[in-house]
Amino acid sequence: MSIDHEFPLSEAAARFIAAPKKNLIGGHWCEAQSGLTLDVRNPATGEVFARVPAADAADIDQAVRAARSAFESQGWRGARPIDRERWLLKLAELVEANAQELAEIETLDNGKPVTLARRVDVTQAADFLRYIAGWATKIEGSTVEASAPAFRKNEFFAYTRREPVGVVGAIIPWNFPLLMAAWKVGPALAAGCTVVLKPAEDTPLTALRFAELALEAGFPAGVLNVVTGFGHIAGAALAAHPGVNKISFTGSTQVGKLIGKAAMDNMTRVSLELGGKSPVIVLDDADPKAAAAGAANAVFFNMGQVCVAGSRLYVQRGIFDAVLEGVSAGAQKLRIGPGLDPNSQLGPLVSEKQMNRVRGYIQSGIDDGGRVLTGGERIGERGYFVKPTVLTGLGEQARIVQEEVFGPVVVATPFDDLDEVVKLANSTPYGLAASIWSNDLKRVQRLIPRIEAGTVWVNCHGVMDNALPFGGYKQSGIGREMGSSLIDHYTETKSVLMML
Ligand code: NAI
Ligand code: MG
Repeated sequence: MSIDHEFPLSEAAARFIAAPKKNLIGGHWCEAQSGLTLDVRNPATGEVFARVPAADAADIDQAVRAARSAFESQGWRGARPIDRERWLLKLAELVEANAQELAEIETLDNGKPVTLARRVDVTQAADFLRYIAGWATKIEGSTVEASAPAFRKNEFFAYTRREPVGVVGAIIPWNFPLLMAAWKVGPALAAGCTVVLKPAEDTPLTALRFAELALEAGFPAGVLNVVTGFGHIAGAALAAHPGVNKISFTGSTQVGKLIGKAAMDNMTRVSLELGGKSPVIVLDDADPKAAAAGAANAVFFNMGQVCVAGSRLYVQRGIFDAVLEGVSAGAQKLRIGPGLDPNSQLGPLVSEKQMNRVRGYIQSGIDDGGRVLTGGERIGERGYFVKPTVLTGLGEQARIVQEEVFGPVVVATPFDDLDEVVKLANSTPYGLAASIWSNDLKRVQRLIPRIEAGTVWVNCHGVMDNALPFGGYKQSGIGREMGSSLIDHYTETKSVLMML
């Protein structure tokens, strides 16, 4: 097993990569009961550089039991909200203290530029943990003035309390592995739940390092369990396990539906953050240069492997050519290379499978009559690099316009008026996000309520705020993450009515 020697790793990352990888269950590091492992590949080279346990239903069952017993343990039940807050703050600190190591592991595993991993994934994970830590001490019920049919007047006391939902199964994707782990684990622990986390098979490593840090932060054994394995085996077992009270999933709409159905059999609570096909809408008062830079970043950031990627670009006709020229020029200027090279702005796609999927979509766009303005091809034969690609000349029914590509590919289309662009923007099954580029307040304000999307950005795209609810309309999911919505996600409401 080897890693790219051109770009050496920090000592800490090299040590972690070289060590045997095990699952964390009930505070113990263990192999899969079957003894099976799965290969972890470096997307920049295609080489296998690590192996992790390939868990199955037996390991998942063991982890769910460990999470249940931790949930009922005095060490966790008896912990005060401020203890949970302190542990989460400590975890945030440890993520920051090990930022470079985590960023390098993420880059080896996912392919993304190490500078991006450090600046975005690791920094945002630490910030988010810090934000959510504060919620642990701010979970509130309310007192209610009861009008219940009384035997005696005014002799009731009624209130609600929030209780942790129980054992949480978290299934996360490979595009922001550490950040997604923090998004799921942080709020569950803040609310007093316990967790079984199943990272994506393509990128299992930072979740394991995160679990080490959680132990170091002082969380009791069994509160966080991490089980690596394939989605259709370990993930499916977790979604269907009757001992899980809530499933929190981020990934494809297709798998989200399977998970939702499996969860329903046990009435397991479920929240789903799924795919998107987010429109970038540029009105003709916008500065074409600024809009082009924004549109390029909206789709090429993280190689387009982003649920909110701005993969459909709608530009008002008067400035269509200027914006398109800017986006194409921007695409050509991006420095593409191995993620460990600090000069790379774009890395490879996460896997051969993803690369082939993206290339298949580009081909379908060409077959449907689209014109490639720039990109369209793989780069080299080693690793999973695809050129940033801009297509135009496609109708709304083209597959590449309707379906999530999850790669550095944008389809640009001109429009004439607001009614037309509203129709275009809402024409896919998805509804995760959208951005509008304009300083014409009237037109912007008229558009916002008409766009079917959980988030609308104005003059920016993809900016996430820990305090703003995030989630999808339509087939982009169910429920909202971030902000106070998180507490709703991971708690049950108990109503108490006392006759005095
Ligand atoms: P996926 O939805 O299969 O993977 C996400 C997670 O679900 C992984 O942890 C995987 O192990 C797990 N999983 C897979 N099958 C499962 C099952 N039957 N039961 C339970 N868990 C299961 O996504 P995949 O196949 O890696 O990527 C395919 C497409 O999905 C991408 O091209 C993209 O369009 C979309 N996607 C969207 C993401 C988002 O953030 N919205 C993230 C990842 C993928
Ligand atoms: Mg990988």
